[in-house]
Amino acid sequence: MDNKKIILSGIQPSGKLTLGSYLGAIKNWAELAEEYDCYYAIVDMHAITVRQEPAELRRTTLEQIAQYVAAGLDPEKNTLFIQSHVSAHAELGWVLSCYTMFGELSRMTQFKDKSAKNSENINAGLFTYPALMAADILLYQADLVPVGDDQKQHVEICRDIAQRFNGIYGDTFKIPEPFIPKIGARIMSLQEPESKMSKSDKTAGGCIYLMDKPEDILRAFKRAVTDSDTAVRYDPQEKPGVSNLMQIYAACSGKTLEAIAAEFDGRGYGDFKAAVGEAVVETLRPIREETTRLLGDKAYLESIYKSGAERAARAANRTLQKVYKKLGFVAK
Ligand code: TYM
Repeated sequence: MDNKKIILSGIQPSGKLTLGSYLGAIKNWAELAEEYDCYYAIVDMHAITVRQEPAELRRTTLEQIAQYVAAGLDPEKNTLFIQSHVSAHAELGWVLSCYTMFGELSRMTQFKDKSAKNSENINAGLFTYPALMAADILLYQADLVPVGDDQKQHVEICRDIAQRFNGIYGDTFKIPEPFIPKIGARIMSLQEPESKMSKSDKTAGGCIYLMDKPEDILRAFKRAVTDSDTAVRYDPQEKPGVSNLMQIYAACSGKTLEAIAAEFDGRGYGDFKAAVGEAVVETLRPIREETTRLLGDKAYLESIYKSGAERAARAANRTLQKVYKKLGFVAK
């Protein structure tokens, strides 16, 4: 057990989980539990970098715990916890913000995107977000961080921060690697296939949520934007809509992109879009049903996140104490 490599990842409960975060992240986590010691957080402290409605945040946090379990994360084999329950995150986040440079934070794509979208609330937390994310990862001495493509830059800055700290104080943190799936790492909007599928997408039908009804999912795929050609061919530059649908179908069915192109050769987009919609419906159906069942058992969900927080805190505090000692803080 102790020799297993360590995995940490997290998702913000800043809205309903999307097909993008499922295919880019959670789906791939479920297979890792046997081989790795896995920690998965619901990063509520990150979510407040954008204004949240308190009752809604509470609801989506609980729903997300249920979805982690429903998507196949066995709470006995994975440590599932809520970030704000483990105070070491805030503590190490502060320390690391003192080892993170203004210039490097200014280059972060997520900061630039989010400050463009929330121009009335460009707060300091949004800017220092990567230092808190580095704390999430480094507290657990994680070897691997399974994320979608858009989070690669944040894992890279985490590595830079860890190397900087280790360079000053000696070996303290394991240097983590991003772990990005070959298929599904960047799911795009069904309406604007040049933009990432995102929970903040306001275009109707652009984003699929894990809890969407089958008829709504089928309709969204039927209306998905493609192109004026008719060939089902993978070419993200020339055919972003079709290529995105191929990625989604591949991730949901396990088929290769070549097999998909062959399957729909000469059949046109109508059949293809319907098949992708069906595959998504069947992938999400068991997760939706199990989430609904679990949400009826609040006591069970509470037992998961409470024992998860205890286990997580034990690991996190070991690293935090090591860091405080290295910094020269007087022991309690
Ligand atoms: P978040 O909450 O935006 O997204 C959660 C995970 O889902 C992936 N993802 C996608 N993958 C493919 N296609 C998409 N359209 C798509 N949308 C989202 C993301 O890459 C991510 O893996 N900063 C992080 C949360 C975080 C974290 C961490 C992650 C905080 N601390 C520590 C890993 C380790 C974020 O905003 O993810």
